[in-house]
Amino acid sequence: MIKKVAILANGGDVSGFNAVIRAIVKTAEHNGVECYGFIDGYRGMLKNEFVKLTSGNSASGILHKGGSIIGSSTNANVFKYPVEENGQTVYKDLSQVCIDNVRNDGFDCIFTLGGDSTQKSARDFAVRGLNVIGVPKTIDNDVACTEITFGYNTAVSVASEALDRLHSTAETHHRIMVLEVMGRYAGWIALESGISGGADVILIPEIPYDIEKAADAIRKRAEMGKKFSIVVVAEGAYPKGGKVSVANERSGGEGVINEQLGGAGQIVAKQLQELTGLTTRCTVLGYMQRGGTPTAFDRVLSTKYGAKAMELALEGKFNVLTVIKNGKLDYVPLEEVVGDNKEIGAVQGGTSQSNVRYVTMDNDLMKTARNIGISFGD
Ligand code: F6P
Repeated sequence: MIKKVAILANGGDVSGFNAVIRAIVKTAEHNGVECYGFIDGYRGMLKNEFVKLTSGNSASGILHKGGSIIGSSTNANVFKYPVEENGQTVYKDLSQVCIDNVRNDGFDCIFTLGGDSTQKSARDFAVRGLNVIGVPKTIDNDVACTEITFGYNTAVSVASEALDRLHSTAETHHRIMVLEVMGRYAGWIALESGISGGADVILIPEIPYDIEKAADAIRKRAEMGKKFSIVVVAEGAYPKGGKVSVANERSGGEGVINEQLGGAGQIVAKQLQELTGLTTRCTVLGYMQRGGTPTAFDRVLSTKYGAKAMELALEGKFNVLTVIKNGKLDYVPLEEVVGDNKEIGAVQGGTSQSNVRYVTMDNDLMKTARNIGISFGD
């Protein structure tokens, strides 16, 4: 019987974090389980910083709120944590400190709300003996084994609204409007928002592009009398034979990928202007995609995921990830989620060893986009 549980939110924030927290807390309370939240993800577990969560107080009125009431951490790989020693940064495995904290605090289960990196650490903690249940979060929609992550729908919605706004200005000024969206190395946000926002060209990392082909699509539109075009570029999109565009290095520590993507949209915009002769502007949507109130879809998905996670804990089904499989709420072992990335603590997510879900060519969204003549620059 579980009596006391803790939630942690980890990785880049998304709209829907709070809705998951609320659902876990409410389901826990109905079943006489006490709920706590570690502050700032795995870092809170390491520092043993947590707060009590109750639906009557701290976790009240949060369903529609963006961000995370318990914070989140984007650089907290506790299996390779940066520590200052003799004026130098060294990376240490501090996971045992976290495990001791969890045991001493008496938490029977930890809910890990996060993407592929977070779930890799969750699985590594599970192997070391903790009871863990993951909930798949990320605007990128690239967590393995689930059809959708919470936060993704809101990001698509924000991008889609941006495209509507770009449409009217593109049309008025006879311009090409390029919108760069997030998604890391997966093209889901670009693909789905591109369909929903009526894009003419969508460039995604899964299909390295030929800029000439993208320009051809725009020229064909011009021949048909269409004086403007809308292009969606995933931040991870890159030309055939080329590389992803990196804006900066970030200090996420060891065992994680430290590339901060950015610049892909500008490159495409410049080349399209040169090739077509049409004035082209680029908009980078950035963190707008992660903030603010979640869509109704994300509120419901997050609530389903949170309630299911607590239900699994009550049934004693640990070391799993809540997922949507064939459109239904389900769960899979964390072992399956990490795939071949088995070495404890060696790497987290976002690396070449990561098991992530990319856009596949047989996906309905891809087939739909092709059917209606959207160009992928190939
Ligand atoms: O993984 C979510 C995400 O927003 C990506 O789409 C983006 O590439 C990255 O995080 C940005 O990371 P950071 O918050 O470190 O700038």
